[in-house]
Amino acid sequence: MPPEPVTCDVLILGSGAAGLSAALNVADRASVLVVSKGSLAESCTLYAQGGIAAVLDAGDSIDSHVNDTQAAGGGMCHEDVVRYTAERAPDAIQWLIDMGVPFTLDEEHSGYHLTREGGHSHRRIIHAADATGRAIEQTLLERARQHGNITLLDQHIAVDLITTAKLGQAQNRCVGAYVLDRASGRVRAIAARFVVLATGGASKVYLYTSNPDLATGDGIAMAWRAGCRVANMEFIQFHPTCLYHPKARRFLITEAIRGEGGRLLLPSGEPFMQCFDPRGELAPRDIVARAIDHEMKRLGAEHLLLDISHRPAEFITNHFPTVYQTCLHYGIDITREPIPIVPAAHFTCGGVMTDLHARTDLANLYAAGETAFTGLHGANRMASNSLLECLVFGQAAADDICSRLDDVPAPPLLPYWDESRVTDSDEEVVVSHNWEELRRFMWDYVGIVRTNKRLERAKRRIDLLLGEIADYYGNFRVTNDLLELRNLATVADLIIRSAMARKESRGLHYTLDYPQRDDTLPPQDTILVPRKGA
Ligand code: FAD
Ligand code: SIN
Repeated sequence: MPPEPVTCDVLILGSGAAGLSAALNVADRASVLVVSKGSLAESCTLYAQGGIAAVLDAGDSIDSHVNDTQAAGGGMCHEDVVRYTAERAPDAIQWLIDMGVPFTLDEEHSGYHLTREGGHSHRRIIHAADATGRAIEQTLLERARQHGNITLLDQHIAVDLITTAKLGQAQNRCVGAYVLDRASGRVRAIAARFVVLATGGASKVYLYTSNPDLATGDGIAMAWRAGCRVANMEFIQFHPTCLYHPKARRFLITEAIRGEGGRLLLPSGEPFMQCFDPRGELAPRDIVARAIDHEMKRLGAEHLLLDISHRPAEFITNHFPTVYQTCLHYGIDITREPIPIVPAAHFTCGGVMTDLHARTDLANLYAAGETAFTGLHGANRMASNSLLECLVFGQAAADDICSRLDDVPAPPLLPYWDESRVTDSDEEVVVSHNWEELRRFMWDYVGIVRTNKRLERAKRRIDLLLGEIADYYGNFRVTNDLLELRNLATVADLIIRSAMARKESRGLHYTLDYPQRDDTLPPQDTILVPRKGA
């Protein structure tokens, strides 16, 4: 017999910045269950280095934050969303300070230290040294642990959303999710009046990524299967500077290093960024990542270099202790020598379509953070606008839920998870093989530089994999790896289809077949609509 269903007012899938800010903002009014597929702290949020963008300096302005975001976004940001977010940024930072996040102080100016990153025309990145995400995650998690209305459940992976349509009712709404207990292998139904997807991005679809393993696009895939539209999946951000070292997996070298004077160099020691953009090292990320990719391919180099060693050693170790210590661990002293770097998949600009209240197409289902498409980032996210989006839209979801608590009825009795027609897998190798294959062809064919031919090759392969995975899913008991693979394949397909639909190069989508931006018509979002019953 499967475990008994559990009921709560608000089920939040994900315990990163978006999930925890939604939880903490709703918990005084409703019972909240936060589910995380790994340990509670493990998330992209935990690894965020540079900081959060917000207008906090008298010389800066909301208009400037809006303009910079739009310029980075290649003309595709939704202006109302950008303004909504930028206007709420100072309050979001104050909320974090009130929660206890220890941001770095600027003793000289008796305030918080603000750094710079690519695309920003002012110093407006507030940070906790170079481990901002860790400070946020640990603080919010501690607050959530202390809250009597919040239950935290780790090592449980959501399998799929439960909708009333699937229960045979005419009016469709989200009423919960099936969740696999990774330890016992059993699937439990969780019934909720509201569900918030805060499951993060999908960069793990690529072979090389700055993201932790959990970034498999589960929320995007679940929402898609539940009938929600998904937008702008072609815009995958590649961070220009991840550490290149045979033993280092996915360690990011923060853009704030370039903000504080770090120079990008060819293996010969020659700077090159001015040849690509007058803003040099502080050009938006798409330009810097493409320039690095171009130079690596031109020279046949395995990596390029990032050098901050001209700054005083004390400044470097004070501002970048995490990067300093980690590089030192790998035998690189960044106060004396340059850092070998390569680009890697970093951020999913597209996602589940939401409005200003974080509502999705499905009644009572919300999405916030990297899993959502709000319209903030356009064709390229500006650095440090992502944690901000998590906070602003986590709060927006919470506010909307609070305003509807009296109107939304308790969820119906949910059916148990049906395992009557499946058995234990006989060939786990199918899952591991398909993981490898998928992530490699996505890197090779749907990466920083695309072509029609590469996308067609990728499409043929993903169609094959989708068929195989569906077959496997239909016959065998679910496991964490199978669920993630199934979601990765869905998201890869959405990325490929979106990339094929965009017949121009804009922002993060660059194709040799259409190398120019098409300005003959106003730019359109790439909106994919699921087939009914898909
Ligand atoms: P995450 O923080 O990724 O949390 C996702 C949560 O969902 C996790 O708890 C996970 O367990 C859970 N989950 C996923 N799938 C399931 C499932 N099926 N069932 C149950 N739970 C699930 N942005 C900035 O603005 N500034 C920065 O300085 C910055 N630096 C970065 C550095 C690195 C190395 C990386 C990787 C990203 C950085 N970013 C930065 C981006 C930013 O960190 C992320 O976009 C942001 O943290 C995403 O937060 P989130 O809450 O949406 O998701
Ligand atoms: C970084 O610190 O370079 C990451 C910033 C971001 O992704 O916004």
